[in-house]
Amino acid sequence: ARPINVRDIQARKGGTPLVCLTAYTAPMAHLLDAHAEVLLVGDSLGMAVYGMDTTLDVSVDMMINHGRAVAKAAERALVVVDLPFGSYQESPEQAFRTAARVLAETGASAVKLEGGQDMAETIRFLIARGIPVMGHVGLTPQAVNQLGGFRIQGRDDAAAERIRADATAVARAGAFALVVEGVVEPLAREITRAVKIPTIGIGASADCDGQVLVSEDMLGLFGEQTPRFVKHYARLDQAIDTAVRQYAEEVRDRTFPEATHVTRPRQG
Ligand code: KIV
Ligand code: NA
Repeated sequence: ARPINVRDIQARKGGTPLVCLTAYTAPMAHLLDAHAEVLLVGDSLGMAVYGMDTTLDVSVDMMINHGRAVAKAAERALVVVDLPFGSYQESPEQAFRTAARVLAETGASAVKLEGGQDMAETIRFLIARGIPVMGHVGLTPQAVNQLGGFRIQGRDDAAAERIRADATAVARAGAFALVVEGVVEPLAREITRAVKIPTIGIGASADCDGQVLVSEDMLGLFGEQTPRFVKHYARLDQAIDTAVRQYAEEVRDRTFPEATHVTRPRQG
């Protein structure tokens, strides 16, 4: 099948929900490609891969290295790369320079950036210059210090109104899709009804036009306690523990390697 593009994603508004997952490496992208419409190289890799406490220290070079690996492995899914903290907030020009470099050096098709009304001008600037943008409103992890932690947003009327305005500003600026993260459920539903672009929920609502999860979270590869919005579709942490325990035992008692795993010299 031909690769999915941003117009295909936009056309899914109100249709069959979009399947979106994070991918940071080529082998994972290869495994997810057939099942997901969007592979997001999220800056969550700072936490899920690099052991950071927040996404604030993720660099453009990190995003480019992982983005390139994912874009190379994906044959069908649309690859979207997050712009990391500090690489786009200063000005539309800074955002363009970063985004152009990310697309050129990774082969991905679009970038994602966090922010609402404050980022509308930047989103418009990128789109006018050929760079498709996915928006991200609600719980925006790069603003963790401003938000006072990773907590559900939009609980009171004023906060809900602000996030609704953020969503409509991003959609009007021309974003092709919008991640709605960590908001109370009715708000995600209202936003989905209010904007003409697909909403992709995480900790949001089943009424969004799609869902995204961090693959490491849903596969049980990351984190002792997982947030409420994560469903474990597998416990690969347990599978790895069992496999590695067996390997360690077999190394110690010399049952590994077996005859099939070693090479004997050719006979005369
Ligand atoms: O970085 C990330 O993985 C994300 C998704 C959770 C939306 O931004
Ligand atoms: Na992100």
